[in-house]
Amino acid sequence: MPTSTPTSSFVIVANRLPVDRVQGPDGSEVWRRSPGGLVAALEPVMRAVDGAWVGWAGQPDLELKPFTEDGIRLLPVPLSAQEVEEYYEGFANDTIWPLYHDVIAPPQFHREWWDAYVRVNRRFADRAASAVSEGGTVWVHDYQLQLVPAMLRERRPDLTIGYFHHIPFPAHGLYAQLPWRDQVLQGLLGADVVGFQRAQDATNFLAAVRRRLRLDVKGSTVSVPYGGPRTSVARAFPISIDTTPYVELAARPDVRARAAEIREGLGNPKKILLGVDRLDYTKGIRHRIKAFGELLDQGRISVEDVTLVQVASPSRERVDAYVQLRDEIELAVARINGDHDTMDHTAIRYLHQGFPREEMVALYLAADAMLVTALRDGMNLVAKEYVATRGDHRGVLVLSEFTGAADELRQAVLVNPHDIEGLKDAIMQAVEMPPREQARRMRALRKRVLENDVNAWSQEFLTALENVRSSR
Ligand code: G6P
Repeated sequence: MPTSTPTSSFVIVANRLPVDRVQGPDGSEVWRRSPGGLVAALEPVMRAVDGAWVGWAGQPDLELKPFTEDGIRLLPVPLSAQEVEEYYEGFANDTIWPLYHDVIAPPQFHREWWDAYVRVNRRFADRAASAVSEGGTVWVHDYQLQLVPAMLRERRPDLTIGYFHHIPFPAHGLYAQLPWRDQVLQGLLGADVVGFQRAQDATNFLAAVRRRLRLDVKGSTVSVPYGGPRTSVARAFPISIDTTPYVELAARPDVRARAAEIREGLGNPKKILLGVDRLDYTKGIRHRIKAFGELLDQGRISVEDVTLVQVASPSRERVDAYVQLRDEIELAVARINGDHDTMDHTAIRYLHQGFPREEMVALYLAADAMLVTALRDGMNLVAKEYVATRGDHRGVLVLSEFTGAADELRQAVLVNPHDIEGLKDAIMQAVEMPPREQARRMRALRKRVLENDVNAWSQEFLTALENVRSSR
């Protein structure tokens, strides 16, 4: 083990560092917190333990020395422009992402992308191997790095290794399309604990392991012959959010005043509906907009009474499927607004931007209903953010059955977003729901989210890892 760099007993490996390098207003380079649920989820965990974080700084061809930011030791992994194209935009986000989200968009299979994925996963594994102390723990995150657990174990059999999969794991009939299906399963099985969002994801994974690799599976435990014999446990650990900032911001007078100002700015409609998503084809933004447009066309609602605010934050903008989706959504929004806007009211206030958390909480407070209509989503943390914010027990959560969150948030108005008529009825139910029923549902939802926050999630995962270590 190299002794030249300091080592940590706990190392997180994720595609992204928890910061991005961006240009400040004066042109200088500054670090800013990156977008995405993963970062929000892990930040509090990293502060609590003296850990290191291995990840990519978000820009091609950037060679950086390890540095410390906000008390976290960051170990940057460089990616060339070609690797960004083939590993990140290609294999991770144009092969695995669509395949694992039930082929909502067609996955692209390219052998050069796979080669880049293997090469970059090896780089992350090597970086982690040299950063973790003897007998330490490494926690690997998400679909960009599915080969890292086995690569790490090969180099460092002394480690306890966890892997958490933030997105869905598909049914075997779909998974089987992947030309490298066996290698990916073997990569994941390098972990002592393989965590998923939903019980169904773990079941799908175990079925693939049984059918493809013919390994012995008992309950959630797999007997792994390679690098062993050893066992690997696969089960669900539904992720959550750090609830404190949402609860606190929601109580701040300036944030509440901002919520009132947002309402005012929209012409004081009776009801504000809200969608907040990365601009991604998995999120069902088109279905939501279609349903809303039809309600206006049919006169079931009017722009004076109801406005939809859609925040669609820019994401993966060089991947074709995302470019196309943006065009489709923006055309649909412009058509609906063109048909229905008045001088004083707009049908859809569309924002292709990201916003700071304060502004998001003000928006959540201003929204009478939150529309989460994903066609497939590992968890959906936006649903949980909305619920955590509504300490006033007002507001309605309309939630797709196809999110991990729907397994827990049973008191939401649950919808099948493919069923446009059903979605329209659900939106009407939200618009017309009496305050009493809103409060009854929101109370139950909040109890669930506040009791199962991100700290409970990471504790549970790390306890499962610790149990493996102590049983050795
Ligand atoms: C999802 C994934 C994360 C990813 C995030 C943002 O939440 O599970 O791994 O970081 O999207 O996507 P990006 O491609 O910008 O990292």
